[in-house]
Amino acid sequence: MRILIFPDRARAVQAAVIRVVRQVQDKPEATLGLATGGTMEDVYRGLIDLHRQGAVSFARASSFNLDEYIGIPASHPQSYGFYMRERLFSQVDFAAGATRLPDGASADPAAAAEAYEAEIARLGPIDLQLLGLGQNGHIGFNEPSSSLSSRTRVKTLTASTVEANSRFFAPGEAQPMRAITMGIATILDARRLLLLATGEAKAEATAQLIEGAVSAMWPCTALQMHRDVTVILDEAAAGLLKMRDYYGWVAEQEGAMHIGLAAG
Ligand code: GLP
Repeated sequence: MRILIFPDRARAVQAAVIRVVRQVQDKPEATLGLATGGTMEDVYRGLIDLHRQGAVSFARASSFNLDEYIGIPASHPQSYGFYMRERLFSQVDFAAGATRLPDGASADPAAAAEAYEAEIARLGPIDLQLLGLGQNGHIGFNEPSSSLSSRTRVKTLTASTVEANSRFFAPGEAQPMRAITMGIATILDARRLLLLATGEAKAEATAQLIEGAVSAMWPCTALQMHRDVTVILDEAAAGLLKMRDYYGWVAEQEGAMHIGLAAG
């Protein structure tokens, strides 16, 4: 696990953006795994900026999103399909049909989840999977107690996740309680994982992710089992790490903090 701790959120986001761009520069036909949530909004702004500057084209790339709410149509402003169209897809140059999310509006969500898993198996593996981190340690919508060998399926959200995401919904608006999410084993099938967490609210989950025992109660700890994981943090998210100084020292020794974009 490569752990990179940046002094502030802006620099952490920029480091994540650069790594996504470099993946697509190195392999223009890359399959990206994408995530949603507040943390990713700035990442997508960064990707759009670099795309507009001509640094990156997604024309040959494709993507799979981690998850989608069940029971709200893709036209709903809080659906992840809407989020992705607004915040990324409509502003960069992915080919039509190259971006995919689970079909949360399906009349048979379990079948839709199975079909999504099959499509990832057919078109994958995902080259780079971008991940945020839930305050309770969820990745995608794999809530605590999720099987570490789970595949894409329907999950019921925990009360704490519903509460954490309620800020995106209008007061009194019906909020989905279930989602289709890639499973933990689906996520671990990606060639590389890139997790970004910022802010004090993520400090406990971050400490578990890096230093906790592998456990279904902290689904993010499953990343410890993957061979190519980069975790990008700001100081606030890194606040509870016992070996924080060591990670800083390692990153310095390896020159891992200052990766730029290839010229041209
Ligand atoms: C949602 C998503 C997760 C994301 C999490 C964190 O629950 N399903 O994939 O990691 O939010 O969101 P935020 O970045 O808003 O804290």
